[in-house]
Amino acid sequence: MHGNRNKLCAKLSSAFLRKWWFVIAFALCLLLCGILVTFGFTAIVKLVIDHQVALRPGAQSFGWWSKPPVEPMMKIYVYNVTNADEFLNNGTKPILDELGPYVYVESWEKVDIVHNENGTISFNQKKTFIFNEELSNGSEDDVVIVPNIPMLSATSQSKHAARFLRLAMASIMDILKIKPFVEVSVGQLLWGYEDPLLKLAKDVVPKEQKLPYEEFGVLYGKNSTSPDRVTIFSGVNDIKQFGIIDKYNGVSYLPHWSTPACNHLNGTDGSIFPPHITKNTTLHLYDKDLCRLMPLSFEKEVTTRNNVPGYRFTPSEKVFASVEKNPDNVCFCPHGPPCAPHGMFNVSACQYDSPILLSFPHFYMGDPTLRLQVEGMTPPEKEKHQFFIDVQPEMGTSLRARARVQINLAVSQVIDIKQVANFPDIIFPILWFEEGIDGLPEEITSLMLLATQVPPKARSTLMLVLFIVGALLLLIAVTCLVRRSHRQSTLHLASNYLATSAVDQAKKKAQSEHKRY
Ligand SMILES: *[C@@H]1O[C@H](CO)[C@@H](O)[C@H](O)[C@H]1NC(C)=O
Ligand SMILES: *[C@@H]1O[C@H](CO)[C@@H](O)[C@H](O)[C@H]1NC(C)=O
Ligand SMILES: *[C@@H]1O[C@H](CO)[C@@H](O)[C@H](O)[C@H]1NC(C)=O
Ligand SMILES: *[C@@H]1O[C@H](CO)[C@@H](O)[C@H](O)[C@H]1NC(C)=O
Ligand SMILES: *[C@@H]1O[C@H](CO)[C@@H](O)[C@H](O)[C@H]1NC(C)=O
Ligand SMILES: *[C@@H]1O[C@H](CO)[C@@H](O)[C@H](O)[C@H]1NC(C)=O
Ligand SMILES: *[C@@H]1O[C@H](CO)[C@@H](O)[C@H](O)[C@H]1NC(C)=O
Ligand SMILES: *[C@@H]1O[C@H](CO)[C@@H](O)[C@H](O)[C@H]1NC(C)=O
Repeated sequence: MHGNRNKLCAKLSSAFLRKWWFVIAFALCLLLCGILVTFGFTAIVKLVIDHQVALRPGAQSFGWWSKPPVEPMMKIYVYNVTNADEFLNNGTKPILDELGPYVYVESWEKVDIVHNENGTISFNQKKTFIFNEELSNGSEDDVVIVPNIPMLSATSQSKHAARFLRLAMASIMDILKIKPFVEVSVGQLLWGYEDPLLKLAKDVVPKEQKLPYEEFGVLYGKNSTSPDRVTIFSGVNDIKQFGIIDKYNGVSYLPHWSTPACNHLNGTDGSIFPPHITKNTTLHLYDKDLCRLMPLSFEKEVTTRNNVPGYRFTPSEKVFASVEKNPDNVCFCPHGPPCAPHGMFNVSACQYDSPILLSFPHFYMGDPTLRLQVEGMTPPEKEKHQFFIDVQPEMGTSLRARARVQINLAVSQVIDIKQVANFPDIIFPILWFEEGIDGLPEEITSLMLLATQVPPKARSTLMLVLFIVGALLLLIAVTCLVRRSHRQSTLHLASNYLATSAVDQAKKKAQSEHKRY
């Protein structure tokens, strides 16, 4: 029997059968690859995407970041006050007429870019605004009547000052003929007009407390290279930090609010976010004029230009909620109570103490009574007034955005100053704007589609092919082997049986013959 088994092994390892062993090994390899693809492919694709999005000098993504190939647009809607005299003299509600949009086409560029040793990039943001007559509903020369923001800021601030100071203020305003409403063109309101009060302040106020300008304009100085030096993480060292601000003008924390959590500025500028965004992710946006991080949460899946799917992120109602509705916001009210009403954000602390409150346009997601303090403001509509950013979740790139904010002035009544004695306590809407991008150029979106849609398809195809081919080969090889070895062993057994029986018969024959003798 021992000799027989050896023979069988020899047969199995013969050249013909070795081939089948090889096939089995190959099939097992395929199956192993299939398992690797199942569990490892996504991770590899992730690594490749992370490598591609990180801002390395010379990389394509770096070029797109430094000079975005998008056409951002700033649309401005101004509330023209049509009954200023009656409002002041007869105590009627202010009647507002929403004018616009006044549309500016923007171009963005980062300048003085420096790559630091520690995986950060420092730069200044340059923006230019070109007025677009065709897209606008009105001209930059349209004359509007709006509250005199520098004056009402000064009077509102003087509320808690000594009485003689208020009286002095009143006589100065008398001499300078300053009125609570100004008649200016839209261009002046946005880009600056000479304000007698600011001019005076520049001359008399000690140097340290000086306001930085003598002109007043809502977007004054924005049509240029920003003096703010921003340092962001490039994502080369840690992709989770990609695009997040490390330092803004050399500091990592805001000085305005009462707790460290509210003083964080480690968000992005809104054009990029750390990649691999899920529906549970909270995105953080930082803008200097917003004075805080704006948290954005997932709302829904959307389809953007060139059929690129994206996630819509939008601020929740909690963000600008009153302290009563969201106690976490108490840190944004360092000198309260009273704190800002529901749906408003007090940026006074970072706007030279001007009583400026931000809200969403038409007080979207705010207290509805705010809108009823004035006449002529239509109820908020989500499509027109919501703030949102649509992002490509795997890469963290913004595909479409509508940053919509309304600027309001919180006026306090000051009886001692006769010019404003009749100006009641009111939150007065001035204007609202929408800074938006509609989509990315096809050059980028086609790459994006390639990078996000091909890998999952490739993965499932590859998995399918590997598993099916592997399993088939294995099946065939094993079947053949089993058949073959079975045939061989039966052959052996049969011949053995024949042989032994022949021997037995011979023996028996011999024995019987022997007995006979
Ligand atoms: C703004 O309102 C004032 C006062 O009613 C009016 O004279 C002026 O024409 C309005 N401006 C525009 C652009 O409609
Ligand atoms: C103010 O109201 C009075 C009556 O209540 C009216 O006679 C007067 O014309 C109003 N003034 C203005 C500027 O509309
Ligand atoms: C990285 O280096 C820059 C320039 O030296 C510095 O301003 C920044 O604070 C550093 N950031 C970190 C996180 O070390
Ligand atoms: C902004 O500056 C550019 C030149 O840098 C100029 O052409 C453009 O008219 C300016 N826009 C406004 C709104 O002033
Ligand atoms: C343009 O503005 C006028 C008021 O100034 C308004 O009645 C009209 O609906 C606006 N048109 C568009 C297209 O917004
Ligand atoms: C900002 O930094 C704090 C702590 O330094 C951290 O807890 C928080 O998650 C960071 N936020 C973002 C958006 O990275
Ligand atoms: C998102 O959060 C929900 C509940 O908070 C949880 O059940 C789910 O697993 C989370 N999804 C991811 C992708 O983290
Ligand atoms: C806004 O904040 C300032 C201090 O930063 C405070 O004096 C003012 O009363 C606040 N305004 C409102 C309407 O809460």
